[in-house]
Amino acid sequence: MNEVNQACAAFQKLLEEQLARIANMNCEKTDFSTKKTVTIGVIDGDGIGPIITKQAARVLEKLLADEIAAGSIVLKYIEGLTIENRMACGQPIPSDVLAQIKSCDVLLKGPTTTPHGGTMESANVAMRRELDLYANCRPVSIPEKNIDWMFFRENTEGEYVLGSRGVELPGMAVDFKVTTDLGTRRIARAAFDYAKNNGKTHVSIVTKANIMKKTDGKFTAIAHEVAKDYPEITVEDYYIDIMTANLLKDPLRQQFQVVLLPNLYGDIITDEAAQIQGGVGTAGSSNVGDRYAMFEAIHGSAPRMIERGMGEYANPASIIKAAAMLLRHICRTEAAAKLEKAMDECTVIVTSDGKNATAAEYADALMSLL
Ligand code: IPM
Ligand code: MG
Repeated sequence: MNEVNQACAAFQKLLEEQLARIANMNCEKTDFSTKKTVTIGVIDGDGIGPIITKQAARVLEKLLADEIAAGSIVLKYIEGLTIENRMACGQPIPSDVLAQIKSCDVLLKGPTTTPHGGTMESANVAMRRELDLYANCRPVSIPEKNIDWMFFRENTEGEYVLGSRGVELPGMAVDFKVTTDLGTRRIARAAFDYAKNNGKTHVSIVTKANIMKKTDGKFTAIAHEVAKDYPEITVEDYYIDIMTANLLKDPLRQQFQVVLLPNLYGDIITDEAAQIQGGVGTAGSSNVGDRYAMFEAIHGSAPRMIERGMGEYANPASIIKAAAMLLRHICRTEAAAKLEKAMDECTVIVTSDGKNATAAEYADALMSLL
């Protein structure tokens, strides 16, 4: 078989797998308002992960102390999702770790290191796929600039679903991007439902449908179809390039409320938005599916900070914000509001240059406000 035939055979397999994936997509939603016991898995991750996750877990333990004592909340510390263990097992999430993860309802996860190149898939991408966490919600809020954005990034498809499964031929490499009707419909619905339930009046759909005609074309068309069920919400289309510029443009950017986008554009633009808010260390994020949800910082494991011996100065605000999102998700609204208020009031600053507080000092100050 020559290389082209081999590549075609690999492509055929990918297509069959993707069709099987969408055939199994539907699942019942977990109702946390009635669930008797909620298990929260805590995963350290790599690099600065253990340092910041530890602080977020302390905060959760304090806020949920009564429920933990009563058994209605279980905090389960899950070990083994480290780059060393993943490489040794040759799995993006070692099977025994995945089994523990699946025994939880929601997860608080520190950043994990993703190897460049090779075939080892990112642990994040694998977890989003394994738990079918299709909605990546990333809030950015800067009250003094009148900015209040919520990004709804599609989290299981697009450029990511086959990102580790491209093909190489002599002198050429090909990757694949996949957009499905069901996958787009459910993220669009999540974005419009959020808008409707939170008094938002405007959704921006962001793609590059002028170039990615099939996939982004489908994303746009289906998002507009879903929008018809929300006549009170206005919708506008932007291409990702100009949207990247618009996030810096006053007074246009003040008009954006809910932003709906495919996976890779959502990845990129939410780093930009977080930077506008004060840095990626300030941004939390939820990865939500029907059955499971996972909460994390939007940034990576910052190996350079560890190399420089500055890990203790990693800002835990990102993952603590994610912990607040987790509390809201499991209907612990009061605890979430308490934490958000304390974060607003906390004046302690953490900077990666080590000139200010450490992660632990920040958490101490924050906890004194709870
Ligand atoms: C994110 C991260 C991940 C992504 C990496 C770590 C795989 O950048 O959550 O934004 O690309 O989705
Ligand atoms: Mg990212």
